[in-house]
Amino acid sequence: MDKTYGVLKQQWMSELTPYYGAQETEALLRRVLDFRRSWSSLDLMLNQKELVSPSDQKWFALVLEDLAKLKPVQYVLGETYFYGHRFAVTTDVLIPRPETEDLVDWIVTQEASCHGLQILDIGTGSGSIAISLKLGLSDPKVTAWDVSEAALIVAKSNAKDLSAEVFFVLQNVLTADLEDPVWDIIVSNPPYVCVSEQAEMRPHVLDHEPGLALFVSDSDPLQFYQKIAEIGQKSLVAKGRLYFEINAAFGPETVTLLSEMGYRNVTLKNDTFGKPRMICAVKV
Ligand SMILES: C[S@@+](CC[C@H](N)C(=O)[O-])C[C@H]1O[C@@H](n2cnc3c(N)ncnc32)[C@H](O)[C@@H]1O
Repeated sequence: MDKTYGVLKQQWMSELTPYYGAQETEALLRRVLDFRRSWSSLDLMLNQKELVSPSDQKWFALVLEDLAKLKPVQYVLGETYFYGHRFAVTTDVLIPRPETEDLVDWIVTQEASCHGLQILDIGTGSGSIAISLKLGLSDPKVTAWDVSEAALIVAKSNAKDLSAEVFFVLQNVLTADLEDPVWDIIVSNPPYVCVSEQAEMRPHVLDHEPGLALFVSDSDPLQFYQKIAEIGQKSLVAKGRLYFEINAAFGPETVTLLSEMGYRNVTLKNDTFGKPRMICAVKV
């Protein structure tokens, strides 16, 4: 059946507004039209009467179906943008978040004058932090770990697409044991959401993003920070830096943990939403 873009818009608004509200539905439609047709809102307005081709009708119908199941648009389209770069994402990796861009930006700003840094990213997921640092700093040597083989496949493909040389390693940080001080920087955005926080989370996240990337037990919420800080004690060079994204609910606890483990200049920083979300600490 012939359908114009004007009719397509009406259908999207009526089917998705109950789930997303009018404003977010319009934003989704803009994003999807940009992806498929490279159209802006103005293009849509000017082309209301254009017929949607049969293959595009099929494609838009499938996308609409996924969005109505609250699948995040980044997974539906298979891509997102992070720190100015396009990253492919699948449901094997967390969708990189804007607050993590703040962490990357902090590192790029603080470390701008250093050349050839040895950097380890723990829990790399899509490779967003590792690859952005590789591209944003002066010739760093970047290694990235993840316990998920499937995530590493996505990360490797992103590194290739973005021409960023990163050394990826399948490694469980909780069982890792490093001795030699080699790293100038260890960075991590580890799983940090307590299982009890699930109740406050949107179904977009809960039903679609990998639990492995998100959750820690309520009884040991700082498990990853403790272990990574222990690794840092052995394998960071003198004056090496730890950078973490943290659960905003545990800022002071994470600062205390790192200070008690002997780190100095432990700095807690807010993200652009005003939440205490990042920590830098220096090994003595
Ligand atoms: C919060 S996600 C962060 C992903 C990515 N770095 C980002 O910021 O978008 C945490 C990542 O840690 C990985 N992970 C979970 N447990 C791990 C473990 N024991 N050892 C290594 N990586 C782990 C998950 O697979 C996931 O990719």
